Amino acid sequence: MPGTSDTNDGKHPVELGSVQETLFIPLAARARETVKKRPLLRDPKAVEMIRDIDYPAEKYGPGPGSSITVLRTAIVDSWVRAFLAKHPAGTVVEIGTGLNTRFERVGNGTVHWVDLDLPDTIGLRRKFCTDTERRRMVAASVLDEGWLSTVEEYPGPYFFVAEGVLVYLPEDEAAEALTRIARRFPEALLALDTYPRRLLEKQHQQAVQKQMEARWAWSCEDPRSLERLGLRVVEAASVTRPPRAARAQLPLRFRTFLPLADLLLRGLFNITLFRAGSRPD
Ligand SMILES: C[S@@+](CC[C@H](N)C(=O)[O-])C[C@H]1O[C@@H](n2cnc3c(N)ncnc32)[C@H](O)[C@@H]1O
Repeated sequence: MPGTSDTNDGKHPVELGSVQETLFIPLAARARETVKKRPLLRDPKAVEMIRDIDYPAEKYGPGPGSSITVLRTAIVDSWVRAFLAKHPAGTVVEIGTGLNTRFERVGNGTVHWVDLDLPDTIGLRRKFCTDTERRRMVAASVLDEGWLSTVEEYPGPYFFVAEGVLVYLPEDEAAEALTRIARRFPEALLALDTYPRRLLEKQHQQAVQKQMEARWAWSCEDPRSLERLGLRVVEAASVTRPPRAARAQLPLRFRTFLPLADLLLRGLFNITLFRAGSRPD
């Protein structure tokens, strides 16, 4: 049957590196959230992908980790929506896109979009998404330089998102990637999540329990420390303390538990919006 020649029981087989495989963590969380009665976000394509890929994604959740992931994604969605409200034909660059479908969630019919990830992830992504005039997938590491020229082919202003990605890189590599973006795209916005050392240790324990090879490598105690790389903090938030615009969209169950969660988890799940280009050189 056409389109099913490389499938197993009609499902797409998975051949991903260990870090690439982590894309199933947020994908499963979004799929699970979508089928709830009052979901924080809707991602029917995530439900479709989980159904059609031969991978035991149920090992990731449900649980508090799943809610944290979905909240993080909703916060970034709200920042990207605000950017697009001001710059409807600007360019969003999703670094380490995995199988994220932010374009489907926030797309406005005019935005330009680049989805960057490692070649095997992009290979899987291509089973579900196609390039168009305004939207392109790029198979490369964030540590390469070539993809930056591809982004420059699209019109500014630019919004870079790195969600759940840089934490897998050693600190010097994460810093190198951020510095390069900040230099090459002054005034661009950049949203990324950071985690302190004690959470890294927790992730390493959980990875053993879930038989995952991928380990977080980069810890960051204070996102403001990244200003040394040529970034300015525009909005400092955390998953348990979303920015006002995102907070207004939360279903009641999140609004009820977040204040308590914030008391217990403050500073552990930072998500920060930066603007590039403040380096005094
Ligand atoms: C936890 S997943 C997050 C996926 C997506 N951002 C989301 O929120 O659904 C991590 C992703 O980072 C990608 N990744 C890891 N190292 C990378 C690198 N050096 N360059 C580009 N992507 C990378 C992986 O392939 C994977 O898709």
